[in-house]
Amino acid sequence: MNTENVSRRIGQLGVHSLDYVHFSVPDLEEAARFYRAFGLDVREESGMLGLYTAGNPHRWAAITEGKKKQLSHISFGAFEEDFPRFKSRLFRIGLSELDAPRGFESNGLWFRDPDGILLEIRVTEKSSPNAKPVLDQPPSISGIPNAPSRSAAPFVHPKRLAHILTFTRDVPTTLNFYGGVLGLRLSDRSGDTLGFMHAVHGSDHHVLAFLRSEAPGLHHLSWDTGSVQAIGLGAMQMAAKGYPSGWGLGRHVLGSNYFHYMRDPWNSWSEYACDIDYIPADVDWTAGDHPGEDSFYVWGQEPPKDFAVNYEAK
Ligand SMILES: [Fe+2]
Repeated sequence: MNTENVSRRIGQLGVHSLDYVHFSVPDLEEAARFYRAFGLDVREESGMLGLYTAGNPHRWAAITEGKKKQLSHISFGAFEEDFPRFKSRLFRIGLSELDAPRGFESNGLWFRDPDGILLEIRVTEKSSPNAKPVLDQPPSISGIPNAPSRSAAPFVHPKRLAHILTFTRDVPTTLNFYGGVLGLRLSDRSGDTLGFMHAVHGSDHHVLAFLRSEAPGLHHLSWDTGSVQAIGLGAMQMAAKGYPSGWGLGRHVLGSNYFHYMRDPWNSWSEYACDIDYIPADVDWTAGDHPGEDSFYVWGQEPPKDFAVNYEAK
């Protein structure tokens, strides 16, 4: 395993990355169309779809066919030397170790969160960035035209899965669980409605976020594009491919990222994003509790009325 330049916080037991998320949808062909239009490398792999980003061997998401769109499991990456300590921690707190689901056999630790969502801790390379990614957004140069013509605008290929936001019945309980068991740390919250968590070995402001709902579910996957220009172009390419519905352009307060969310065929979202706050391994981030109306977005249009609806609960 490559450990060169990998950041870590000594003495802290915590997962280092959100490794991948698995969910089901009723129509894999529709999913392949949507995510290819979004700019991902969609591969058919033994009866499921794998979501990859161009030039990167990491599988960020796995999609299987099911009756409805539904979050299935979330897999987290840990350092090899930490793995036995996670195993002892699970045993100590009395969490039952489960078998891997069919098609996802691994040597990881499988268990359920308080909402019943299956989780895995596995030994993997650290896929979360080890430093704040440099924006792919050079300053404009004087004396020459800087924008491409419309026909020369490039097709956008997101660089990596940055985070996911899931629904939970109880935000405080869930934050405690993911803090105590996986070693994620609170970045910011809005009371008992919304919470953001980062990985302690150096990660974006959030690798995982939770929104209160009547049932668990997957609200959105956020993909780092590297620039505001790519976010805008991404939204245009989705509209051209028949997916015009979304929310953006805007900028969040908590995490500071620029965003444009695209509505997927199941009324959840994929977010084009860039420039999210980064929390290095040696920084003790001060978590704030922010009023929702002052911390959702700095600027942008009003979100769609159903933006926070959990369609998996319907
Ligand atoms: Fe997001």
